[in-house]
Amino acid sequence: MAQATVTRRVEKLNNASSARVVEPDQDLPGKLGDGQLLPDEILLPTVGIDDGILSPEQTVTLSRQALASITTAGLQFEAILIAGFGLQIAGAPDYTDPRVTYLLHEMGEETRHSRLFARMLAQLEPPAPNPIDNWLVDNVANTVIHQIVHNPALLYTMVIAGEEIPDLLQKRAADHPDTDPFVRAVNRYHRQEEARHLAFARMMLPEVWERASVIDKSLVRFLAPTFIREMYENLIHAGVFGAVGLPAVTAWRAARNHPGRVQVRLDATRPVLNALIDAGVLERGKVPTAWRGLCAVDPDGHPVTR
Ligand SMILES: [Fe+2]
Ligand SMILES: [Fe+2]
Repeated sequence: MAQATVTRRVEKLNNASSARVVEPDQDLPGKLGDGQLLPDEILLPTVGIDDGILSPEQTVTLSRQALASITTAGLQFEAILIAGFGLQIAGAPDYTDPRVTYLLHEMGEETRHSRLFARMLAQLEPPAPNPIDNWLVDNVANTVIHQIVHNPALLYTMVIAGEEIPDLLQKRAADHPDTDPFVRAVNRYHRQEEARHLAFARMMLPEVWERASVIDKSLVRFLAPTFIREMYENLIHAGVFGAVGLPAVTAWRAARNHPGRVQVRLDATRPVLNALIDAGVLERGKVPTAWRGLCAVDPDGHPVTR
């Protein structure tokens, strides 16, 4: 896409963001209910337990802890995005570029989402700690975050993944009548604004890729799939399973390979791969092994049956 066309489309996104500012404290004043917040159909394939070993009370706890874990991950992800975009603005050659204006719109929208997420989190029971957290995991996570924030092509790749994956989960939850009404309202509002963010990230990726360093490009080709996989698997971390009396790490590992949960991963990550192919980042016929593993596709990027 020519630069002038991108500029025009970004201007349209700026107009859309200006025209409809949602302030969640005023526009979404609701509260979470007291019972199960996510229905079995959404929760079980996500969690990987469908053999009836949990009592109804445990399922309620599981749904609430799962929502707390997902919401915490959402807050962390939006904070990383804001950090990365902030650095992009700091280094931008022209502050009058509509792309900079859009980054500011997006950061503004994310801060409103994050305030809503924090309000929702405050209504839940204290989240169970993740038993996998230790100084080594923390150090690795900090190194990964540093790379994401400082490498623009990796940043935009993670933004696309971090918006596509929750989008699918939120769509399924929002469409389900048994999802808590407030969770449904939050999901609908969030998806509506994230649709613009996704459009922007997809539009920007070819420009960003053209200017990306060799290291940045290598991170996207070879390491991004691992980062995306762990982001997905940790939306519901091991502590959530421990909170209902299951062996936390064993249950979490089993959930990673549960067919329902694997299918959600493939459905959520294949659009990310396709976005990278469309942007000219990856090429059909030469899709790197790491991406093929994440999305279960052949070297052309087409789904393989397992
Ligand atoms: Fe958001
Ligand atoms: Fe977003």
